Amino acid sequence: MKDYIKIDEWKIIEDGFNSAHNKISESIFSLGNGRMGQRANFEEAYSGETLQGNYVAGVYYNDKTRVGWWKNGYPEYFSKVLNAANWVGIDVAIDGEQLDLAKCAVSNFRRELNMKEGYLKRNFTAKNNSGKQVEVEAIRFCSMADDEAGAIKYTITPLNFDGALTVTPFIDGDVVNQDANYDEKFWDEVAKGCDDNDCYIQMRTKKTGFDVATGMQFSILQNGQAIETAHEIIQKEKYIGAKITLQAQKGQPITVFKYAANLSSQNHKVEDLIINLKATLDRVSKKGFDTMLAEQAAAWEEKWKHNDIIIEGDPSAQQAIRFNIFQLNQTYTGEDDRLNIGPKGFTGEKYGGVTYWDTEAYCVPFYLSTAEQKVTKNLLLYRYKQLEQAYQNAGMLGFGNGAALYPMVSINGIECHNEWEITFEELHRNGAIAYAIFNYVRYTGDADYLVDYGLEVLIGIARFWRYRVSWSAEKEKYVMLGITGPNEYENNINNNWYTNTLATWCMQYAMEVMEKVKAIDADKYAKLIAKLNFNEEQETGKFTHIIDNMYYPYDERNQVFLQQDGYLDKEQILVKDLPASDRPLNQKWSWDRILRSCFIKQADVLQGIYFFEDKYDIDTIRRNFDFYEPRTVHESSLSPCLHAILAAKLGDEARAYEFYLRTARLDLDDYNNDTEDGCHITSMAGTWMAVVEGFGGMRMRDDKLSFKPFLPGKWASFSFHVGFRDSLLNVRVSKEQIAIKNLSGIETTVLVHDKTYLVKANSEVVI
Ligand code: BGC
Repeated sequence: MKDYIKIDEWKIIEDGFNSAHNKISESIFSLGNGRMGQRANFEEAYSGETLQGNYVAGVYYNDKTRVGWWKNGYPEYFSKVLNAANWVGIDVAIDGEQLDLAKCAVSNFRRELNMKEGYLKRNFTAKNNSGKQVEVEAIRFCSMADDEAGAIKYTITPLNFDGALTVTPFIDGDVVNQDANYDEKFWDEVAKGCDDNDCYIQMRTKKTGFDVATGMQFSILQNGQAIETAHEIIQKEKYIGAKITLQAQKGQPITVFKYAANLSSQNHKVEDLIINLKATLDRVSKKGFDTMLAEQAAAWEEKWKHNDIIIEGDPSAQQAIRFNIFQLNQTYTGEDDRLNIGPKGFTGEKYGGVTYWDTEAYCVPFYLSTAEQKVTKNLLLYRYKQLEQAYQNAGMLGFGNGAALYPMVSINGIECHNEWEITFEELHRNGAIAYAIFNYVRYTGDADYLVDYGLEVLIGIARFWRYRVSWSAEKEKYVMLGITGPNEYENNINNNWYTNTLATWCMQYAMEVMEKVKAIDADKYAKLIAKLNFNEEQETGKFTHIIDNMYYPYDERNQVFLQQDGYLDKEQILVKDLPASDRPLNQKWSWDRILRSCFIKQADVLQGIYFFEDKYDIDTIRRNFDFYEPRTVHESSLSPCLHAILAAKLGDEARAYEFYLRTARLDLDDYNNDTEDGCHITSMAGTWMAVVEGFGGMRMRDDKLSFKPFLPGKWASFSFHVGFRDSLLNVRVSKEQIAIKNLSGIETTVLVHDKTYLVKANSEVVI
């Protein structure tokens, strides 16, 4: 765990340069606008430890899978949102000596991520080998208002010399992915060029054939005056820069404004890319840096209106929750149903920027409450549009007849995980996708979604489970063999309680939705089942038989649901009895030792209890929590947040807060020693859930929002925003009261500790 980020309620601050933390800071200070994003790499050259990262959403490469002996069913490739052209670079040389913080004496270093207004600022003083000193301030952002554009204002002031200063703003497409399976370069250059102060490169991804045009336009101020200077065009393979040599005067600042844009063939015709790129650059540079920055602040003000959480009395918790909300909004804006949320967002390469079940199980609740309805709808449509591939994936397992298996890891709908033995059998993701549909419709009331899209997905998923279970003559029950549950520290197990429970729930829900759709639009229903060749009587008959005869492992002695068959054959040791030196297990123990131990990576049975909480009485929840949590090592960042919610439900406020602390500052404090790979974006949604569903006790009950809040002991108060069916509520919990303010013109009814309250338009209810 690190403790170098300064506490501030609206900013993330690093004071002083510690090169050993650079890769961590590059992750933490990342920028994004849903369409593109980047790690906080320096503008000027840096020869120290760094992970260069610029990403364009939806632009990926299919990297051939790397395995030992090939087996049928292995994915052909691992898709990754690849490292794209670097548009932030500005080389600086002082009398011919390159400015490189790894080779200078650095002082007054400070990085600030301004979360209120959405920009990154960096200041430092550097003294080079010949004793020349400059002061630098760099401000940059990825524009929320113009999501294909970004801008940089880079100011250098000579402190103790007059002399030649060269600045070279550039675009560098000669980049690699650190995680490339075969050390290949993923891009080919298509074109590059420069006119006046515009330079661009167009590149194409190998195999997948996405074209991305990245360009820049620059202007220079010296001592506050715009100057026109000649520049020399520097061209190398996949690189173009404009070198400008200036006579610098001591104390007189030189400012480079660099406007940049990234346009991809996903959104533009290939033949129009360069024309549209230039038009974008012209448009944003005409606006100018200050206007763009003001628009950025306005866009973020609008976001914060809908999703700020205010914590009084604990600045560190305040900073942390805003950081999580900020990063989630930088990652996904919901404008485009072809995009999704990679577990590391735009902050690193790990997990390839592709989609996992994290989206449906963890991110959907966040976006449902904090963004317009269309944002979550687009996440659902993303899967709807990949239904064909889900049929193909099921086909590879031997199931036809309209069975759909969504992938565990994918960007284009085709399964592409790198780790066969774990992810292949994590079939539970199919259920999370059905659960997200249920969650969306329950929250928004948008039953039309079921008619037009949802039911089609649900039938495919239900059919998959129907074929994937098998009849055990011995048990006289349906069983499910060869599974990995959410707990990835058990592979190829039989009868994972969570997966069996989810599978029958999916079949049940699909049948309920059939009835609903029939009632809403019988004609559309008839067309759909004809299209799917769905034999209603026979297939629902089969679903019902499975639902009625499914086997759920249970342990009578402890009165708990059993994670899987044979779980109790394992030596039962508790996490508290593990030596600290053995943790984290995934770094200290062999895989064999992990698999035969009883230790649980993340919520598994408890994931099911969280999803289907209403089915279980409080004693059942408590017994399962008390049994499984002490065996859980929480080595997935998705784990503590669910435990926080369940502990809150059980009235264990202290533990709820303790679990919350384990996720809230996970990246800011580099809790798991892995933030340098990127931030844990999807688990940030879990942190939000821990506050709103945990401390706020928010649930959906009978078509209404229900709250059962409590105030963590250390806090003076907390408040959060939730949007619900066109109304926007602010819920504030303090020692004295719970206040629910309706910030919209639409009245709504809520439940607080099971009592009903009408919250009129633009008014407040105080309890
Ligand atoms: C977790 C998975 C998760 C993945 C991506 C893994 O460590 O065990 O549940 O989907 O990370 O976040």
